[in-house]
Amino acid sequence: MIECRMREVARRWGYREVCTPEFEDLELFTMRSGEGIVEEMYVFEDKGGRRLALRPEITAAVIRMYINEAKVAPKPLRWSYFADCFRYERPQKGRYRQFWQFGVELIGADTAQADAEVISLAADLLNATGVTYDLKVGHLSFMRNLLRDLEYPAQRRIMAFLDKKDFDGLKSTLESVNNPDLGSSLISLVACRDLAEAFEIAGTILEKERIKRTIESLDAADVTYSLNFGIARGLDYYTGMVFEGFAQNLGAENQILGGGAYRLAHLFGGDDVASCGFAIGFDRVMVSLGELQQKKDTIVAIVCTDEGRSHAQKVAGIFRAGGIRTEMDLMERGLGAQLAHASRSADFAVVIGGREAESGTVTLRNLQSGKQKTLDLRSAIAEVSLYGAR
Ligand code: HAM
Repeated sequence: MIECRMREVARRWGYREVCTPEFEDLELFTMRSGEGIVEEMYVFEDKGGRRLALRPEITAAVIRMYINEAKVAPKPLRWSYFADCFRYERPQKGRYRQFWQFGVELIGADTAQADAEVISLAADLLNATGVTYDLKVGHLSFMRNLLRDLEYPAQRRIMAFLDKKDFDGLKSTLESVNNPDLGSSLISLVACRDLAEAFEIAGTILEKERIKRTIESLDAADVTYSLNFGIARGLDYYTGMVFEGFAQNLGAENQILGGGAYRLAHLFGGDDVASCGFAIGFDRVMVSLGELQQKKDTIVAIVCTDEGRSHAQKVAGIFRAGGIRTEMDLMERGLGAQLAHASRSADFAVVIGGREAESGTVTLRNLQSGKQKTLDLRSAIAEVSLYGAR
């Protein structure tokens, strides 16, 4: 299962799974999530008149949890989650009002290596799912440096237009703030795929050395990505490195991953701890994989007579312990009816009557070819496993 593979990858990188509540004080999400998400929230009042929201994302809740429960824990903290989120959006293929995110947050490491670890883990997780995707890595400091003289609301509007490559919107906003000359540098930045060239376009960037080291680290780890300085991200809390993943075989809703470096803890009464994380849109990954051929489980149906039943239960346990999907008959049907059902639902039938129970063997029938043989348990499991490995 895809989520098991993702959990296993996160575990190998040292990320421990955490759980946060389904709903939180509305304020937790309004503080820094950005207008887009605030407008999309499911908000309600509880009996005590508190304004609550179903979580539209998990990051803010994880950081609140860090402040409440782990502020003094040794840093960095590596946390992961697999949880459902709610956004009041217009539903369509790949865009749902309830959807699942698999994400990680690395809390308390403010280095190039930390940014690179999170991006490398994102790639590793997506690779484990089997989706084909493009990973795009950028940094907000390039856009922000070009926009530094504008008021914050104008900066945000312009960054949103750049993110969508809406250059008409960009031009009219720049005109409204009497800065039409910025347009050409911003458009060149969005088209730029080369780090040295991006530094030239954007001017003096304080984080230059750190950005270079992050990119070197990604290259050393053989991560496949492209640079993209037009990524602005929809959420408001990002501070530096940002990245997004796009499935190659999906249409309009093809963004399967989003993340970056951010600071949120100080807003919730904690220290100003640097964090970096991302979330993968699990439903979109599944839609993307659904379009590809999925490898199916080999299914074994245990078919038994009354006298064979207790041996059959033991055999089922041994098959399952051997990693094989094994289903017992529960309908108290006769042998013929059990076999007929098995031929519709399974690849193999393991037939167990009095003779097999006595000798400790099984009769293994390949339900496609109809061929069957009597085998000891170890050989039967080996034969089924071999079939699954093809
Ligand atoms: P986000 O980009 O808003 O980032 O969401 C992450 C992913 O969730 C998206 O790339 C997309 O695949 C999926 N997603 C979003 N909305 C929907 C929807 N309505 N239906 C289906 N899938 C959807 C965040 O949520 C940040 N908290 C990520 C993060 C973690 N940044 C730092 N740490």
